[in-house]
Amino acid sequence: MSAAPPLLTIENLCFDFDGQSEKTVNALELSVKKGEIVCILGASGCGKTTVLNLIAGLLKPKSGSINLQTESGKRNSIGYIFQSDALFPWRTVEGNLKLAFDINGKLDRSKAKETMQLYLSMFHLNPHVLSKYPTQLSGGMRQRVSIIQSLMFDPELLLLDEPFSALDYYTKLSLEEEFCNLVKEKNKSAILVTHDIEEAVSMGTRAFIMSGGKLAKEFHIRKKSEADITRGSEEFAKHYREIWSELKTIISG
Ligand SMILES: Nc1ncnc2c1ncn2[C@@H]1O[C@H](COP(=O)(O)OP(=O)(O)OP(=O)(O)O)[C@@H](O)[C@H]1O
Ligand SMILES: [Mg+2]
Repeated sequence: MSAAPPLLTIENLCFDFDGQSEKTVNALELSVKKGEIVCILGASGCGKTTVLNLIAGLLKPKSGSINLQTESGKRNSIGYIFQSDALFPWRTVEGNLKLAFDINGKLDRSKAKETMQLYLSMFHLNPHVLSKYPTQLSGGMRQRVSIIQSLMFDPELLLLDEPFSALDYYTKLSLEEEFCNLVKEKNKSAILVTHDIEEAVSMGTRAFIMSGGKLAKEFHIRKKSEADITRGSEEFAKHYREIWSELKTIISG
């Protein structure tokens, strides 16, 4: 067993928007190890996006702590992939992907081309897309480019807010698989917000249901080294049933 400290440790995190009677985030605790994909499910409006925004530093906690044990120890070790892609429409795909080098002067620009090509092939995108503008791409292609754009910053922790929800079923399945392979190959970590239980079971090492401002229920799905759980298998169905049964109870209050 490795005694390495968790990559991310959240303790007693509290947050409310001004004028709210109840805290959106109320004494939330979470720890994420390197190599993990942690999925967060929960009713609409329960605070999932708010938690990602707090971790990314876009919102300031009212109390509690968020500690990142990354190599740099900084928030620039976080990549945030929003639900709707945040590509710049006036830049080509190549311009969008090189954004990381414009923002972070410490990245080695001579590696840009090689890194872009590696990720394009990992996500099954033809290099011809580099000269295209975002509006010339399909939704699935744009989402792949958004993921690659975040990866160009070489983040250790990826935050994803329903990243595959707007995609057709087959694109979604292949992107989920490509993303999991990437996390494994590059030993990244990810927190993924989703409404899709199947997505949580096929991608997550652990899943949580958020309710009452905290991660109220935890499910252990797989160890990061374990083989994938085949969709349609009894094991997959068992995890699905457990999560759905809790989610149903929590949502129906
Ligand atoms: N900028 C804001 N100002 C005030 N209240 C907000 C703001 N953003 C979100 N909220 C409120 O905070 C609560 C949590 O919102 P959040 O967006 O985190 O929910 P969510 O779990 O991501 O929902 P969904 O699944 O629909 O995306 C909601 O009640 C929402 O109305
Ligand atoms: Mg949300």
